[in-house]
Amino acid sequence: MKQRITVRDIMDKKGRERIVMITAYDATMARIVNAANMDVILIGDSAGNVMAGGDSTLGVTMDQMVYHTLCVTRTRPGALVISDMPFLSYQASVSDAVRNAGRLLQEAGAQGVKVEGGKRVIEQIRAIVNADIPVMGHLGLTPQSVHAFGGYKVQARGRQAADLLKENALALQDAGIFSLVLECVPASVAGEVTEALDIPTIGIGAGPLCDGQVLVIQDMLGMDKTFKPKFVKHYANLYDTMLGAIQAYASEVREGTFPAQEHCFKD
Ligand code: KIV
Repeated sequence: MKQRITVRDIMDKKGRERIVMITAYDATMARIVNAANMDVILIGDSAGNVMAGGDSTLGVTMDQMVYHTLCVTRTRPGALVISDMPFLSYQASVSDAVRNAGRLLQEAGAQGVKVEGGKRVIEQIRAIVNADIPVMGHLGLTPQSVHAFGGYKVQARGRQAADLLKENALALQDAGIFSLVLECVPASVAGEVTEALDIPTIGIGAGPLCDGQVLVIQDMLGMDKTFKPKFVKHYANLYDTMLGAIQAYASEVREGTFPAQEHCFKD
C-alpha cells in the first residue's frame, strides 16, 4: 500500500521539489484529486464560497468544516490532508483554538490545520502545535479579515508592509508551523519570505518563487465563468462542458430519446 504523505515529507521538499496543493470539499472531487497524485489536499473554508454560495468565508462553522473534511478523508487520500480553522474557531481564546483544531483531527481525520494570521494569533498557534497538531500558517490576503482589509486586496505592497509580512512569517515559524500559505502578495515579496524561512511556502497569487502552489479546485477547473482573478489559471472549461451535458440530457428527455432500449431493464 502507498504510504500516506506526512507533514515531515512536505517539510523535506523545501529546496528540492515543488509542492502541489489543491482544495477539495466532497468525496467525488476528492477521488479525482486522489488519482492526480497531489501532495496536499486542503479543505479550505473557501467552502463558504464555492460550496455554500457565500460572498465571504465568514459564515463557515466548525461543524461544516468537520463535515467537508470527513467527506474528503472517507476517500482515503494518499495526500496530506489539512483542514481550515474557520472564522471565530480560534480568535477568541487559546482553549477554543486547541479544542477546535483537535475536532478536525479527532472527528474528521485531518492530519493538520490551517490558521490565518500572524503575531496576533501566535499564542493560539503555539498552543495547537503544543497539542501535537501540525499547523499550516496563512499570511497576506487572509480572507477572514476581508472587512478589516476593506476588500480582497493585494497585501504587503511597499517596503514597510513587506518587512511586516516577513516578521510575521518568522514569528509563525518560531511558533512551530510546518508550512506557510502566502496569498495575494507581490511575487518578489513572496520570494524574499520564502528565502528567509526554513519551512516551505505555498503561494496563491504569490508568484513562482514560493516552494509550492495552491488553487481552489472549482477555480482551476473553470467551473464559474464569472470568477477569473489574475492569479487563477483555468486548466479546463468545465462550466461549458457541464452546461452542454445537462442541456443535452434535458433535450433528450423532452424529445423522448432518453432513456433508450439499452437503459431499460428486461422482464
Ligand atoms: O480556503 C481556502 O481555500 C484557502 C486557500 C485559498 C489557500 O485558504
